[in-house]
Amino acid sequence: MRAPARLCSLLRTEYPLVAAPMAGGPSTPALAAEVSRAGGLGFLGCAYSTPEQILEWSREVRARTDRPFGINVFADVPDGPPVDPGPMLELLRPIHAELGLPPPEVPGMPTRSLDAQIEAILQSGASAFSITFGLPSAAQVARLGHAGLVRIGTANTVDEARRVEASGFEVVVAQGSEAGGHRGTFIGSFERGLVGTMALVPQVVDAVKVPVVAAGGIMDGRGWVAAEALGAAGVQLGTAFLASDECGAVPAYKEAVVAATDDATAITRAFSGRPARGLANRFLDAAELQGENILSYPLQNALTRQMRTAAARAGRAELLSLWAGQAARLARRGPAAEIVRWLVADATRVRASLQS
Ligand SMILES: Cc1cc2nc3c(=O)[nH]c(=O)nc-3n(C[C@H](O)[C@H](O)[C@H](O)COP(=O)(O)O)c2cc1C
Repeated sequence: MRAPARLCSLLRTEYPLVAAPMAGGPSTPALAAEVSRAGGLGFLGCAYSTPEQILEWSREVRARTDRPFGINVFADVPDGPPVDPGPMLELLRPIHAELGLPPPEVPGMPTRSLDAQIEAILQSGASAFSITFGLPSAAQVARLGHAGLVRIGTANTVDEARRVEASGFEVVVAQGSEAGGHRGTFIGSFERGLVGTMALVPQVVDAVKVPVVAAGGIMDGRGWVAAEALGAAGVQLGTAFLASDECGAVPAYKEAVVAATDDATAITRAFSGRPARGLANRFLDAAELQGENILSYPLQNALTRQMRTAAARAGRAELLSLWAGQAARLARRGPAAEIVRWLVADATRVRASLQS
């Protein structure tokens, strides 16, 4: 069986196309359901969700479709070095005042239990589980497998892909450096893990036996067919769905995405404390000037949450984390199902044009 067909039969989808999980706002049950209804694999980004929210969102997907869908979470990461919060509080104080918020306070360590999230996922009716920032414990991997969920792990390098496969995962997402959102890096340095999709995918394909899904900068049939030519079984697209009707990004975020230029993004720790690619804006630039004063993940994420929530309500894109990939300008507006249909048709057109 060819790699794309093998992936479709594993995921039980019509097309080897995954809508990336996008935690923190963009992912919605409607987006996941519409992508699944259109023949792809819709995903819920539940990294910041409680077990109750995971179950509630899953019920909302199920109310819309019986088709398979996936749920994604973040792996536990080691604590970063302690950082004096003074300079970050100083940076945020005038911004809070501007947004009508009380002065910022030193954040407490967020409490989140990956185990509790996985318990909820096991009861959610999801057919696929994916993870980034690392891997769950062997016991958690086994439980997900016994429950019949397809396990999908994120890799930024060949070493990480081998580790994902060796841990019992059935699919590797090879995330190139073009990708929007957080880097998945869990072995070695973030900087050296910045391998472009074009370079990463064939090396990962050569290194593992499980199907490889290419992610990073894929926005249309050209990118999809290019990924296939590199040996990928399928593609995972995040930014391509950011401006869709069902995406939960606020209007100012969607407008920034479709107006972006190829050089508009940067990789930053400004919003969460972990490197992620997003559209550069006022807060990103100001925090980057602080360098090592940015707190570690997840403290920086907790510290900037109030600002991000208020900025989203006020439509202030300059203070939001605008996660997006390097090909953001190619994002299309409209219903997510229409975007899936267009992607499928465009890939078919590109394949035919290469044969003529
Ligand atoms: C807004 C946004 C949020 C994201 N959130 C997550 C997430 O919660 N979990 C995850 O595994 N990947 C997340 N990603 C990364 C995607 O899984 C994927 O690697 C990326 O979207 C691929 O590159 P592209 O954005 O150019 O399509 C996110 C990406 C974006 C754009």
